[in-house]
Amino acid sequence: MNRRDLLAFSASALALSFSSAIAKAAVPVPFDWAMTPPTDDRQKFIDWMIANRGEDAKYLGQRFDRYQVMLRNKDLWDKRTESGFLLTPREEFVLKPNLSRVYESAFLDINFGVTISGPHLVGRMTSTINVQQGEKVLEIGTGSGYQSAFLSHLTDKVYTIEIIKPLAERTRGIYDALIAKGYSELKNINTKNADGYYGWADAGPFDKIIITAGIDHIPPDLLQQLKPGGIMVIPVGPPGAQHVLKVNKVQAADGSFNITRSDIYNGKIVPFVPFTKLEGDKIVGNHNG
Ligand SMILES: C[S@@+](CC[C@H](N)C(=O)[O-])C[C@H]1O[C@@H](n2cnc3c(N)ncnc32)[C@H](O)[C@@H]1O
Repeated sequence: MNRRDLLAFSASALALSFSSAIAKAAVPVPFDWAMTPPTDDRQKFIDWMIANRGEDAKYLGQRFDRYQVMLRNKDLWDKRTESGFLLTPREEFVLKPNLSRVYESAFLDINFGVTISGPHLVGRMTSTINVQQGEKVLEIGTGSGYQSAFLSHLTDKVYTIEIIKPLAERTRGIYDALIAKGYSELKNINTKNADGYYGWADAGPFDKIIITAGIDHIPPDLLQQLKPGGIMVIPVGPPGAQHVLKVNKVQAADGSFNITRSDIYNGKIVPFVPFTKLEGDKIVGNHNG
């Protein structure tokens, strides 16, 4: 290598190490429960998020625009859930080829034959369970990890189960990388690769349960692991044609339980990926009766 080549090589090595240092830069301000991004002005939101979370202005602008549509559509029902949406970097949970569509309303492919739900649906289902700080929440169907990342801004006790092993491992890796970058709130999430039909008995009972795969009945173990007074949101119906139900478990004075159901979309059909079944270490069919 002559002197000129050597100089060029050193410069490109420096540039490379510089760009990877930027990629690994820490989130400037760690999450705390009082963290509330401004919502009255798009540019104020972007500036605040850059200063506090170190994120990319392009995606922040798109996130704010989607937030405003979600508000108009009544998919975010309270200030804490609004902040949860605004603080969750959806762009970290989609496949690279889908980055240009990350804040569209539609669901997107995440490989393994499954999808990340669209932001409106995630917002409405999260609003339905009305998570309070300190409550224990179980999600069935970790998928991309986006839904639980959103929940990690609402409570410090999030449990999520994914049935597809390589997907569960990929998402665990994404959480770990983001935690290393400074997204400390993602430490609130406990992950497990298993068949979520049976819930997570050791970690329960749960104040809230959110199910992101479609099934034709309410899994009895999940209902059993829901605390009295708890809320579940679950897509129920035949394959590809579910109704998203809010399920309340109410305990009567005599100790018996009463289950009430209401449709969060007033009868609209919302198709979900199937609630599949694990036999040994293989996914075989689904849990429909
Ligand atoms: C709509 S997708 C994922 C949405 C996800 N909440 C997100 O934020 O990306 C539903 C997920 O449920 C998973 N799933 C289906 N049946 C399951 C089961 N029995 N136990 C756990 N996960 C299951 C699928 O593999 C898929 O990843």
